[in-house]
Order: sequence, then structure tokens, then C-alpha cells
Amino acid sequence: MRVELRNITKRFGPVVANKGVNLTIEPGQVLGLLGENGAGKSTLMNVLCGLYSPNEGEIQIDGQSVRFAGPGEAIRAGIGMVHQHFMLVPVFTVAENVILGIEPVGRFDHLDLTTARSEVSRLSAEYGLAVDPDAIIETLPVGIQQRVEIIKVLFREADVLILDEPTAVLTPQEVDEFFQIVRSLCEAGKAIVFITHKLNEILDISDRIAVIRRGEIVGTGDPKKLARPDLAEMMVGHPVDFDVARAPFVPGDVILGIQDLTVLRDDGAVAVDDISFQVRSGEVVGIAGVQGNGQSALIEALAGLRRVVSGQVRFDGTDITQASPRERHRLGIAHIPEDRQRAGLIGTFTVAENMVLDSYYAPPYSAGTSIDWGRVHTDAAAVAEQYDVRTPSVHTSAAHLSGGNQQKLVVARELSRDTRFVIAGQPTRGLDVGSIAFIHERLMAARDEGDGLLIVSSELDEIMALSDRILVMFKGRIVAEYAPHDAPVDKGDIGLAMAGARV
Ligand SMILES: Nc1ncnc2c1ncn2[C@@H]1O[C@H](COP(=O)(O)OP(=O)(O)OP(=O)(O)O)[C@@H](O)[C@H]1O
Ligand SMILES: [Mg+2]
Repeated sequence: MRVELRNITKRFGPVVANKGVNLTIEPGQVLGLLGENGAGKSTLMNVLCGLYSPNEGEIQIDGQSVRFAGPGEAIRAGIGMVHQHFMLVPVFTVAENVILGIEPVGRFDHLDLTTARSEVSRLSAEYGLAVDPDAIIETLPVGIQQRVEIIKVLFREADVLILDEPTAVLTPQEVDEFFQIVRSLCEAGKAIVFITHKLNEILDISDRIAVIRRGEIVGTGDPKKLARPDLAEMMVGHPVDFDVARAPFVPGDVILGIQDLTVLRDDGAVAVDDISFQVRSGEVVGIAGVQGNGQSALIEALAGLRRVVSGQVRFDGTDITQASPRERHRLGIAHIPEDRQRAGLIGTFTVAENMVLDSYYAPPYSAGTSIDWGRVHTDAAAVAEQYDVRTPSVHTSAAHLSGGNQQKLVVARELSRDTRFVIAGQPTRGLDVGSIAFIHERLMAARDEGDGLLIVSSELDEIMALSDRILVMFKGRIVAEYAPHDAPVDKGDIGLAMAGARV
């Protein structure tokens, strides 16, 4: 099935998200779609999957013009999308999620759970998508949840699969497995649209690359003839510097001290197992590890969002083990949470409201009685400008920002005030290369002003580029420590430690 987008324009009020886009999607091929945060990638694919109707232009399938009144019609025409933010019901099983919302037609005339379960197993086997049909979604790692999203689309017999930033939440190992799946889908003749900000991934998996900038396609190319810098320049319109500039390491006093800390997961299992370490002022400590080894629980505990069962956290010599998130905020501890949608912002609130989520109650925004909204709006506009949060205005709902701009909003709120310590979980997840460089610069500026920083990232390259000291977490414990300023650190060694090998 060959799909053609012709002259597609999509506006949201005054915002032109897509402008006269022409694009062809071929069966048996991966089309890589690349562009800055807010360039219009998700919107274009939402038009293709029937979620939005275009203001102008048309979609053709095998030369025939089609119009979709909703995603149901698009999926019946063979077009399915896996969204940037998953849409699964956490308390349902895999099979229940797969059949959710399906209309019993044709082959699925008598749709029941038994059929669904066996169909899930068949699709799993056919495309190498190992999942247990009876597993409850919320107990599954993100990598597996994503397979469920793919199975959902395949179950509906899609020929065109749109994957919106599928690798943003995956570990390197999961990415390898995921690429195997994509290749087997291609061999079966499916057409794939793959969106990512990771240039090496797009070069690796795509048969053809299209670059979108401010709503328009600015170029298409053959990945065999393109290199990372070419793509970055096409995307942002100017060359991008990939290197993080670092001032010399000048550590000060210990600012954060963690002693014998133990933290549990929601299900009561040990997540952080009796660990101790310190972070100095002017020092970046990076935590490397495969997702699910206690890093998330550690930063939640440090942010005051997860109870500590034993051990102590000291900040500047004071015991803050039981301090509330607000008290920690007042001490100058910034927290960039891993999951922006769940813990970072409130989608129905405006950009301005999100900027003051944890500071609205105190001066300069409030003297105790009412909030000075004029001041909130002026400050929010200045910070949004400084951090390049692309939004029509500060009165726009956060949910209407592109994924990457939501992330920039959270980072802007946390880093724009006077901080003394920064806890950052996946600070650049979903950001384009230009924005990553900018956020890295801001994090380094905090370090150079004497903040302590604790950064958790599943991107080992990011950890290596930013950290003065690297700790590797495995099964809730710190299993290795590296100090790059003492001795060069080997990426392979860290990888082995992350996998639990004794080094
Ligand atoms: N439902 C909506 N209402 C209003 N504006 C919207 C809506 N959805 C998207 N936009 C705007 O359209 C533009 C394109 O957003 P889109 O989500 O398509 O970007 P993207 O390329 O997917 O970016 P990212 O890489 O950050 O995910 C942005 O300016 C965004 O704010
Ligand atoms: Mg997007």
C-alpha cells in the first residue's frame, strides 16, 4: 500500500503546524521523519492517522483520494499509529488493551478474549514481539508496553505503521530488539514512518529520510549519503556543535550526603538497597544504569516524592530525609522528573501556570492572599523565551505544546530560578539536537555557579559528557564508580558494570 500526502496544511488557530507538505510513504520501507521540537512531525502523522483533519490538501492511498473522519476510519484503511505518549490502560491485561475499542467486523465478528489472546500470541511469534497476553500493563517495562502498542496496530491489520519517537524511552538493548522488529515488519511489506531525534538511529534504520522545519518539508535524502552534521544542519538551519564545553572541575564542599539509604518500590520490593554517596558543590555526579535498577526510586526519594525506609539524606549538613517537596524546593533543590507527563507538568494548566507550579504561593508572586498574575505572565514569557519553549503564548495549555517543548518547559521552570542543587532524571528525553546542546549548557552553567548536580540518564553518552564522577547502579546498589578527571573512562567498562559484570 502506497500512501501519498499532498499539499497538507494544518493550522491550530494562528499556529501553522504543517504547511503544504508533500510526502510519499512506500511499502516495505522505513521513512525516517526528522525535525526540531515543534516542527510539526506529530501533527502531520496525526493528520495521516485520522486524528486531525487537514485544513488543506489530501491523502491518497494507491492513487485514490481518501478522507478520514477519525482514527477508526484510518485504521480500517490500513493506517495505524503508535503515539509519542502511550495510550494503554494500565490496569488491563495485554489482550484486553489490544481489543479495547475495536469494532467487531469481518474477521473479528465474534471478538472475545480467547481469540484476542491467541491472536496476540500469533503476532508475537510472527514479528518477534515477545509479550505475555495475560500480563497487566502497569507491571511491564516500557519496552514491552511499546510492543503492546505495536501489536494493537498490527491486530487491526495496519499496512502503514507510524511510530512517533518509539525509542525515546528505550534502553540501548531494547532499541536493538526494536530495530529487529521494525526490520521484520518491513520484510513483511509494511510501510513504516519512524520519528526520532537520535540521528544515528535514523541513519541506521531508515531507507529514506525527510526533514521537516517549521511545518515544511525542507529536504529528503538517502541515509547512505548523509552524515549526522548534515542532518542536524538541515533540521535547525545552521550547524550544531555536539561537544559539551566544560570548565575545569573545581569541587567545593559536600552539599548532598546520602547515608545507608534504602527505598522501596510501590510493590514493596527493595529499589534502592542501602547506598551511600556524596555530591560536592560544583560537581556533577552521573548515575548510569539500565532502567529499572533503582535510579528512578532514588531520585524520587531525593525529591521528597518517595518515602525513605532507612538511612539519611543530608543537605548542607541538615537532615532532610523527611522534608516535604516544598521544603526541598525552598532550599534550592531543583527536580527535573523523568516522566514529564506524570510528574512534571499539568496538561490542562497554561504554560504560565506550569512555570509557577511550586512557587506561586510566595513572593514575588503572592504575599499570602492573592496571586499577582501580571507578574507570573511577564516572568513566564521571559523564561519561555530564554529556554526557547515554542508556544503561541504563555496562556496556551501545556498539553498543546509539542512533546519536546513540554520537556523544555519543565527544565526551564526548574533551572531558571536560584538553585543550589539539581536532580535531573532524563533531562533531555525527546529533545532535538539543538535543544539538547542548550540544556547541557544550562546544566554546566549551574555547575560552574557552584550547584551540585545529580543526573540520571539512560543515555550513556550524555552521562559521560556531563559527569565529573560516574556511579553505576545495578539492582539497587552502586556497583562501580569512575572519576574521569583522574583516569580516562572506558565506555565499554561502564556498559559491563551496567550489565552486572564485576569490574
Ligand atoms: N492540539 C493542539 N492545539 C494547538 N496547537 C497544537 C496542537 N498540537 C500541536 N500544536 C502546535 O503545533 C506545532 C507542531 O507541534 P508537533 O507536536 O507536531 O511538533 P513535533 O514536531 O512533533 O515536536 P516534538 O519533537 O517536540 O514532539 C507546535 O507549535 C504545537 O504547539
Ligand atoms: Mg512530537
